[in-house]
Amino acid sequence: MVKKELLYEGKAKKMYKTDDPNMIIVEYKNDLTAFNALKKDSIEGKGSLNNAISASLFEYMNENGIPNHFIQKIDDTHQIVKKVRILPVEVVVRNITTGTLCKRLGIEENIRLPRPLIEFYYKNDQLGDPLILEDHAELFGWATKEQISFMKETSLKVNTLMSAYFDTLNIILVDFKLEFGVDANGTILLADEMSPDTCRFWDKTTMKKLDKDRFRKDLGDVLGAYREIWRRISEKEAN
Ligand code: C5P
Repeated sequence: MVKKELLYEGKAKKMYKTDDPNMIIVEYKNDLTAFNALKKDSIEGKGSLNNAISASLFEYMNENGIPNHFIQKIDDTHQIVKKVRILPVEVVVRNITTGTLCKRLGIEENIRLPRPLIEFYYKNDQLGDPLILEDHAELFGWATKEQISFMKETSLKVNTLMSAYFDTLNIILVDFKLEFGVDANGTILLADEMSPDTCRFWDKTTMKKLDKDRFRKDLGDVLGAYREIWRRISEKEAN
């Protein structure tokens, strides 16, 4: 597959056209941003780790019947995915309280929720991705009722699968964000990425944060944390 002109550049990835109109090539960048890009950095090696981690997690989704955009990893920093129109609704699933949930609602940190909490955010950089209700998404045409139901059901399945997977790696899946897109046939698919940029991972024994919170909170050794996630995933894959 031939990498053609740049279609779109996001905060952590670049999307390129290919010779197949239904496929695009994603390049994972070393750039890291937080707080709606108010905080920025670039860490050599981050892109290739996220490319590898995301590819493995999407393969795991494929093995478990979660329809998604992933086709194949082609090199260190690139993967082929199906071309989709990303819906402007981000889904966050939370198992343990932290992050903006605690800030927004004054909730205590580190409480395991009795069941997963699903939140919807309007994907809009200018507005800083505000929290929305399902009704906003439906009434303003950001997603249909059916798409919203699909996103909710699929996000819960992904949470069950990912929580079990990371449990075997001695990691707690604290929370994560998913994005969905619609392909040329109008089919809704899980899209974007699944990586330490978009998930919170805590080591089960030490509770050490192994994700982008190390960057957000200046905890140091960001790359070491991403490497540790990839080490545990790749060791599991080798067995
Ligand atoms: O910051 P907050 O607590 O809302 O994040 C919840 C989860 O969603 C975290 O895992 C975070 O990494 C992810 N997230 C994301 N992109 C955003 C907002 C949140 O990947 N724009």
